[in-house]
Amino acid sequence: MMTESFSLPANGSFSFKDRNALVTGGGRGVGEAVAHEIHAGGGCVAVSDVDIEAAQQVARALDPSGETAMALALDVRSKADFLAACDAVADNWGRVDILVNNAGYAKRTPTQEISPEEFDEIVQINMRSVFLSCQIFSEHMRENGYGRIVNITSLAGQNGGTVASPHYAASKAGAIMLTKYFARYLAGTGVTVNAIAPGPIDTAKARLSEEQIARVESEVPIGRFMRVDEIAAATALLASDRGGFFVGATLDMNGGLYLR
Ligand SMILES: NC(=O)c1ccc[n+]([C@@H]2O[C@H](COP(=O)([O-])OP(=O)(O)OC[C@H]3O[C@@H](n4cnc5c(N)ncnc54)[C@H](O)[C@@H]3O)[C@@H](O)[C@H]2O)c1
Repeated sequence: MMTESFSLPANGSFSFKDRNALVTGGGRGVGEAVAHEIHAGGGCVAVSDVDIEAAQQVARALDPSGETAMALALDVRSKADFLAACDAVADNWGRVDILVNNAGYAKRTPTQEISPEEFDEIVQINMRSVFLSCQIFSEHMRENGYGRIVNITSLAGQNGGTVASPHYAASKAGAIMLTKYFARYLAGTGVTVNAIAPGPIDTAKARLSEEQIARVESEVPIGRFMRVDEIAAATALLASDRGGFFVGATLDMNGGLYLR
């Protein structure tokens, strides 16, 4: 069996010429790969993260001149941060065409030890963020007559996942439902909203033991974790002009773990 663990470079298969994107959680992992993909396609990219230094590093790597890439401090728990980010991108480049809600957070606390506060925190980061951003950016995009919103959810939000905790799974399920809600709410305005539901991604390996990695690999029918360039390519499709007929879809990217 082929076991690829490399990442292909962003190749800009989709054109993002004259498009401006905001990516949350863009400081590393999937968000970083998505930022590279959109930028490689000719788009301007605002790389946002709660970790501003990570976002700055990615933005500098995209364009040291700052002309086509910028870094923004954005905690997805904060409505004020989303409003400020929308203004910052619009002030700089005229408008926001693409929003990729990628920032996410998983905790694997034993079920009986999850506090109400921890439950709320996970829901705020993974689900309420989708509501707040869609509420804000849908108005902005509707006024412009164009928009693409892509929500990075999870297999855990579809079937409970392989190693997910209850708050993570529930929050990602909510994000999938919000995707459907906002897709219908905005249908016909030029703004589309879609989701991707990934199974295990390479980025998770750092948080897993050797045994857990081997177990996941043996469970995934194609025998490996997803590479970030693969999810970046799918995100680019949904975020592109040519992705306009996807409305409220959830793309399964799980290597065959869950077929529906
Ligand atoms: N890694 C996996 O196996 C996997 C599987 C399914 C779904 N996902 C989802 O894919 C997305 C990306 O995952 P990843 O593996 O690249 O994650 P990661 O942990 O490598 O990166 C997440 C980024 O989000 C940022 N972030 C965390 N909390 C934030 C907040 N409150 N506000 C703004 N930014 C915040 C982090 O600083 C980090 O840069 C997440 O939504 C995750 O839930 C991941």
